[in-house]
Amino acid sequence: MTDIPEILRLLDREIWLVTAAAGDRRAGLIATFVNQASIVPEAPRMLIGIAKQHHTWQLIEASRAFTLQLLDESHLDWVWRFGLHSGRTLDKFEGLPALSPVAWMKCRVETSLDTGDRTIYVGEVTDAKLEKATPPLTMNFLLQRAPPERMRELRDGMTRDADELSRLIHDRILVFLRGADGRSFTTCTAGRRRCAPRGLAKITYTGGAIDPSGDRAAHRLR
Ligand SMILES: Cc1cc2nc3c(=O)[nH]c(=O)nc-3n(C[C@H](O)[C@H](O)[C@H](O)COP(=O)(O)O)c2cc1C
Repeated sequence: MTDIPEILRLLDREIWLVTAAAGDRRAGLIATFVNQASIVPEAPRMLIGIAKQHHTWQLIEASRAFTLQLLDESHLDWVWRFGLHSGRTLDKFEGLPALSPVAWMKCRVETSLDTGDRTIYVGEVTDAKLEKATPPLTMNFLLQRAPPERMRELRDGMTRDADELSRLIHDRILVFLRGADGRSFTTCTAGRRRCAPRGLAKITYTGGAIDPSGDRAAHRLR
């Protein structure tokens, strides 16, 4: 487990601005959790992972749509504006010049996966344009160029987000469904209670390690 930071440091990631709008509300954040999710030319799809505490997450949930804009190396200021503070407390778009991204894609959410701390969205790309042939901004470039004050803000922001995400991962409620034989268990998250078929006992449990099999689990869960 201790080598995880070293392994991840071998990778570099492109930096995207993810925006969403619902009614007259708008939101945007910086993201590296953005991937191609299809190689089928007539069914282009992108995948993004958005933490649930973010303002932008709320508007993607409300609109079931998002836009991806690929930043270039001249866009460091956009990272500080959209990646360090929440749009709940300030209007990140106020007074902004038009962004000239490397490329953009508009996506409609096809499906999503709740992982406790994040929602992973698979978006159907409904429109896209390559605007210019400049190299995309990457995480390694950002880390090399960030002034010390910004590095501190980045680190503080990541620590804050990681604390909140840890709580969401560990505190999520598991619903245990007792099987028809009265002994076996399957699990689902509380947000999906509808997965409990009629007649199966539901036992809710919050946090901690569980061996969800047999009488031992039943004993611990009571
Ligand atoms: C380089 C960088 C990469 C980031 N990648 C992601 C990401 O992939 N997913 C995510 O949910 N947040 C990511 N964040 C964090 C959000 O951009 C940040 O918390 C933002 O302030 C949230 O804004 P909002 O609350 O207005 O939506 C990243 C931040 C930075 C600086």
